[in-house]
Amino acid sequence: MMKTKKLKIEGDVKTDKIESELWVYNESELWDYKRDNNKNTLRDLTLLDNVQFIYELYLAELELKSLGVDFEVVNGLREFQILNKSCEIKDLIKKKSAYFKIIDGEFTDYFQIIQKNQTRSVNQYLTHWIYPYKGKFHPQMIRALLNIIGLKEGDTILDPFSGSGTTALESQLLGINFIGIDISPLCVVQGRVKTESVYVIDEIEKLKNKILASVVDGLVKTDENYYKLLDTLTKDEKVKNFYVLARLLAVSDKSRRNRDFVNSFIKNVNLMLASVKDYLQIKEKLNLKLGNIKIEVGDARNIKLQDNSVDGIITSPPYSIALDYVQNDIHSLIDLGYDVLKIRDSVIGVRGNGKNRIELYNEDMKKSYKEMYRVLKPDRYAVIVIGNATYQGQEIKTVEFTIEYMENIGFQLVHNINKIIFGLYNVMKKENILIFKKVK
Ligand SMILES: C[S@@+](CC[C@H](N)C(=O)[O-])C[C@H]1O[C@@H](n2cnc3c(N)ncnc32)[C@H](O)[C@@H]1O
Repeated sequence: MMKTKKLKIEGDVKTDKIESELWVYNESELWDYKRDNNKNTLRDLTLLDNVQFIYELYLAELELKSLGVDFEVVNGLREFQILNKSCEIKDLIKKKSAYFKIIDGEFTDYFQIIQKNQTRSVNQYLTHWIYPYKGKFHPQMIRALLNIIGLKEGDTILDPFSGSGTTALESQLLGINFIGIDISPLCVVQGRVKTESVYVIDEIEKLKNKILASVVDGLVKTDENYYKLLDTLTKDEKVKNFYVLARLLAVSDKSRRNRDFVNSFIKNVNLMLASVKDYLQIKEKLNLKLGNIKIEVGDARNIKLQDNSVDGIITSPPYSIALDYVQNDIHSLIDLGYDVLKIRDSVIGVRGNGKNRIELYNEDMKKSYKEMYRVLKPDRYAVIVIGNATYQGQEIKTVEFTIEYMENIGFQLVHNINKIIFGLYNVMKKENILIFKKVK
């Protein structure tokens, strides 16, 4: 059952937020649960309502195994009984798991985190939604994968194609340190704003009225004037990045959806700020110790890290030639003053034409995979999420190419999980989660 609610932002109704009843934080569910449990039913653990696919159930099971849980699936696949229940096991599941809603009568941390959502999309909670980047990871899946490959607080994970920063935010929430690289400076700003704004929320708020007034009064219409204004108002890169991304969101809304620039800017600044406040609140409520985040512009074919230096890799490289990342974000890159043609020269999957484009892609990805092997510690895991695209009517076997090459250079494939894709049916045929171990 759906209900529509007007979302109020500082006296001005900006957007309709649609909430599914399923997603509303509801204490009475816990009472129902407790009543049921008194009848001696077996459930210790209940899956989140959004777990719908076979691959998700499989990941949920892998996640429990990695956390050291012995379990049986009961009551029609949505509930689990824990066979080795202890305070330690319960605490691990409560704090870390990605697919469970209730553990022994208590809401999990993840369930409480995803209630902090300013959007209509269930997986765009906290700051994940900021900027409409095409080809984002599903954040819940990333949280599960971080657990599945055994990463713990204080470990370091690398994403050499960090995109919009999904792995960055999910690592940060679990206290795992994150190193991200992306060739696009726009992606670097996205990842930084999503993870760093929480540390400078007061400074961001202090500048808000001045910046909104300058935009509303039309004093800073051009990109150049706007960025100059930011330079005069603050020296703090984190604060500056917040307002850079707010502008780019409005630039994107205008060019992609023909929205009014000023209205979109005001709306986005308010929603971004509300999301960062949500983040701070949940961090304090759950007493989260956030991981350190480092995101830089860089090339995955030449990673500036030492050999055997990271504890895990989770990444999603360009799917062959499926998406033109430069073209998608061209308005924002130009607004930021970048030479788009120069960036394009180093973007994997968009170089060359026809058959040559696929050959160049394969060469570039071989270099990137070799680099991943070099920087990963032995016996640790690299997760590659990748799909086969269709080009000029033919399926390009990127998944098979990836498995073959990774195994050639010393990785062992330990899991190959088929994943359903929505929204890209025309170009994408299959997407797989490939989990490799560095073995030799
Ligand atoms: C599939 S997207 C990653 C999406 C990301 N997982 C997320 O959740 O947003 C692939 C990314 O690879 C980046 N990329 C392309 N060529 C690159 C290169 N040579 N080095 C580093 N990143 C590159 C693109 O800019 C793009 O952001």
